[in-house]
Amino acid sequence: MSRDITVLGLESSCDDTAAAVVRGRDILSSVVADQTDLHAAFGGVVPEIAARAHAEKLDLCVETALQQAALSLADVDAIAVTAGPGLIGGVLSGVMMAKGLSAATGKPLIGVNHLAGHALTPRLTDGLGYPYLILLVSGGHCQFLRVEGPTTFVRLGSTIDDAPGEAFDKTARLLGLAQPGGPSVEMRALEGDETRFKFPRPLLDRPGCDLSFSGLKTALLRQRDQLIADQGGLHGKDVDDLCAGFQAAIRDVLIEKSRRALALSEGITGFAVAGGVAANQSLRSALETVSAEHSAPFVAPPLALCTDNAAMIAYAGAERFAVEGADDLTLSARPRWPLDKQAPALIGSGRKGAKA
Ligand code: KG4
Ligand code: ZN
Repeated sequence: MSRDITVLGLESSCDDTAAAVVRGRDILSSVVADQTDLHAAFGGVVPEIAARAHAEKLDLCVETALQQAALSLADVDAIAVTAGPGLIGGVLSGVMMAKGLSAATGKPLIGVNHLAGHALTPRLTDGLGYPYLILLVSGGHCQFLRVEGPTTFVRLGSTIDDAPGEAFDKTARLLGLAQPGGPSVEMRALEGDETRFKFPRPLLDRPGCDLSFSGLKTALLRQRDQLIADQGGLHGKDVDDLCAGFQAAIRDVLIEKSRRALALSEGITGFAVAGGVAANQSLRSALETVSAEHSAPFVAPPLALCTDNAAMIAYAGAERFAVEGADDLTLSARPRWPLDKQAPALIGSGRKGAKA
């Protein structure tokens, strides 16, 4: 049974270097080394800097994760690694490290789709049964997925442009707030009046579950520039109100689209949210309300498991291993790797190379 195997997981697809040891649904250790300081001066993640930092930090993260789990590499049954999608240099750092560990120890190597890691997190944290609906909402992605099995995902809708986390990050940059933008904007929004500035609610006038967020950033830019032109700068209250208005627009769009996705999802065991933006409290509580309207149990994993981590990769690796077995040393790092079955590249096809 996959539930009982002990998996070492590695994650390095964006700006967090992470290693974790998971046995069944028990997280024996989860180490995350974030790179916020390295990228702070650039206003966003610099792929080359990220890749180098991953290469430098991965072995230390693995060592710490094993120490905290009180295990040695010999006690681990398999090695799971994010093989995409993500920034290719970072993904390569992780895949190379995992291949090295696998070749040296003879332990099975499992390539994991980063999005599958997020999408299966409600099973790790709450044991949610298949099928369920999940809103995956992060810095690079936004999609509604019906999760039917460890490698079976049906996409009901997705963003046609920016991801919400990206929009939060850009908004923070436009307002001179610290990165990552989500927590900064959320904190300023707490004191803000969400009704003072008008923000659009993109795509609500069209049927379906697709989303769009790039217009919100443009709306914010215009309102900011208007304030600067009118009064020569931004007051603290302006920033608070802009953040509150922007956050409310993202929340309202996600809520209405969640209603529609739930209406399309018969027979689900629950509605879950995952990805970095799921850390947003105002969004979490609004999603909980929508879930209750549809009598679907709501699952929001703890914040540390909503943002990037390696426990979710280890867990998703164990589930994938149980149904599809291991990869071999030809496992490829893939910058793109869609989850849904309709797409040409299926989860688990990493060993055949990047196709998505
Ligand atoms: O899932 P994640 O850690 O990385 C990937 O994108 O895969 O998500 C990071 C994103 C960033 O854009 C960050 O600004 C956003 O999640 N985020 C938030 C909050 N915390 C993190 N967005 C809104 N509110 C938050 N509290
Ligand atoms: Zn992520």
